Amino acid sequence: MIIVGSTNADVGIQHGIDILKNGGSAMDAVEATIRLVEDNPDDHTVGHNSYPNILGDLQLDASIMDGATLETGAIAAMQGFREAISIARRVKDTLPHVLLAGEGAERFAAEMGFEKQADMLTDEIREAREELLKADMPPEVFADLSSSAELHQWVTLASDPEKTRGTVNVLAQDHEGNLCTGVSTSGWAWKYPGRVGDSPIIGAGNYADNRYGAAGCTGMGEMAIRGATAHSVVFYLKSGASVAQAGIRAMQDLDDLGGRYLSGMNIVALDSGGTPGGFSSIKDRTFIYQTDEMSTHEETMRTFVEINQRWG
Ligand code: GLY
Repeated sequence: MIIVGSTNADVGIQHGIDILKNGGSAMDAVEATIRLVEDNPDDHTVGHNSYPNILGDLQLDASIMDGATLETGAIAAMQGFREAISIARRVKDTLPHVLLAGEGAERFAAEMGFEKQADMLTDEIREAREELLKADMPPEVFADLSSSAELHQWVTLASDPEKTRGTVNVLAQDHEGNLCTGVSTSGWAWKYPGRVGDSPIIGAGNYADNRYGAAGCTGMGEMAIRGATAHSVVFYLKSGASVAQAGIRAMQDLDDLGGRYLSGMNIVALDSGGTPGGFSSIKDRTFIYQTDEMSTHEETMRTFVEINQRWG
């Protein structure tokens, strides 16, 4: 039994391992681990109190995939509810659909009994947005941003990859050998309203198949969508690659992407035998894992894979 995650899963991984050790499923462990990240007030890239879009609205994306059945559930651009990963799981468990976005996701969350939040942001986050956006735009533009007809111009500046973004990936394998992957994020800080990244897109930011392995992505979601990156990792595993080879190949595929906006990409992976792997196009990045035999998690280096980066 094992849990693999991006480093910000450290607040929940022990709880996830305890669930596995007590006979819980990979799905239960993934959901519970991610809920603790979503509730972490110091993580401003996942769950409540995270960096909002350019208009100051927090829009969450999340997905979960069951490697035993290939069933999935996801929500995108959802406002006003904290428990993104749990709501994604309820989509999987309740509906004949796999992805709900915006108002539909919010309506569904309320139907499922999740509590609508009056406010998802602290003053600290509001002030961070104001400070960063005012550094890029004249005060009169900032003051009237919600009615701007040129938001597209400002979002290119505001969503510069050097500015904050993040996501959590959690992959688990339980005592029955079942795999599950969960991904949750607030997406890019200051993104265009309605922008959806790779996290709720199955095959892009999330994929799990008991027969071969699982993968999750963090980084520039647009690239993982274009490269179908999480599915690529699992496809390479299916083709006979080791987890180390599969992760490198999926990263190298991203080097073929053209266009003006290419930035950092990170993958965590797990094969069906329980071997973890981590990969990044940014040097010195780490990931974490913990098995049922370990008393705490281990943080270890991701394999660096150089790929094209350019902006604008
Ligand atoms: N990888 C998360 C996002 O781009 O939204």
